[in-house]
Amino acid sequence: MSAPKFSVTRNPAPASPQRRADVLAAPGFGRYMTDHMVTIRWTAGTGWHDPAVVPYGPMTLDPSSMVLHYGQEIFEGLKAYRQPDGSIASFRPDANAARFAGSARRLAMAELPEDLFLASLSELLAVDSEWVPEAGGEDSLYLRPFMIATEVGLGVRPSSEYLYSVIASPAGPYFAGGVKPMDVWLETEYTRAALGGTGTAKCGGNYAASLLPQAVGAQHGCAQVAYLDAEERQWIDEMGSNNLFFVFRSDDGSVEVATPDLRGSVLAGITRDSLITVAKDLGISVVERRISGQEWLGGAASGVLTEVFGCGTAAVITPIGTVKHSGGEVTVGNGEPGPVTLQLREALTAIQRGAAPDPHGWMHTL
Ligand code: PLP
Ligand code: COI
Repeated sequence: MSAPKFSVTRNPAPASPQRRADVLAAPGFGRYMTDHMVTIRWTAGTGWHDPAVVPYGPMTLDPSSMVLHYGQEIFEGLKAYRQPDGSIASFRPDANAARFAGSARRLAMAELPEDLFLASLSELLAVDSEWVPEAGGEDSLYLRPFMIATEVGLGVRPSSEYLYSVIASPAGPYFAGGVKPMDVWLETEYTRAALGGTGTAKCGGNYAASLLPQAVGAQHGCAQVAYLDAEERQWIDEMGSNNLFFVFRSDDGSVEVATPDLRGSVLAGITRDSLITVAKDLGISVVERRISGQEWLGGAASGVLTEVFGCGTAAVITPIGTVKHSGGEVTVGNGEPGPVTLQLREALTAIQRGAAPDPHGWMHTL
């Protein structure tokens, strides 16, 4: 299907150039939105209709809209980067489109075709391009596609109507510390997702369930929570909003990078997948395997485990210093960002900002 034509209604009162410059000078994460948003509706029997770019603003919802009661909501997160030639490109948006469709299937929602997903990003960028930060740095425009169930009624069943939307927000570092190592709480009471559940989908409910353990972690000074598998409470799944990588160094100096395998409860991160490829390109040995919480704590204590980092679109690559848990805490390495972490970070971000060749065709001009 070729993407239908979007109607465009310009915001009559966009942010002033001064206001935009102030926001772009210190964007933070997710605090400021651009002037426009995309909306597309889906109705059973009709399919996708009325694609539009409209001024950013409140949406009106009937109080009995299904999303407000049973939580049929999914989302994506990807970034648009200003390239050295002034153009704007996003990183593997086709992978986000595919994951969005997979999340829709798991939540019994309508699947947005990939070409419409990509068109929705281009249409928004066509009117809000001035919100993409300058080339050369790490700032970007974070794009947040999402979809909600809008059928009115209280029956528990898949909605017959959906609203898809994209909003955009200039983004600096997700974690206040930037590339400074963060501390992580290894959670042993609450779990994030069970096999057969919704862990592989990017749905709002997963994040709602993470907020209480996140608050527990925050009480211990931790920026993220690392979750164990729900069945044995032994194997590391991932964190609340990033995947995890571990760097092991043997006595002979050889390095192995390991990340938990996608065992059915982990979100298949696009950054994770890309880093596996980037590591191989750099000649670094990388494996997907089970890693236990004990291996993390014991490896850090013995010194075999030299680096740990979290990765995701918002978080990029953030080193982890100390892992804390109900029985104590252990610092990985010397608590500073490690060389493999920094090498992978530089290799990936150089592709994204257009400072290095893109051998896998990951950058997509919007
Ligand atoms: N895991 C969770 C739970 C996430 O929310 C995210 C962020 O999107 C990731 C992993 C990393 O995924 P990606 O690299 O596709 O952003
Ligand atoms: C992302 O990295 O895009 C995320 O979705 C993480 C978080 C802000 C939910």
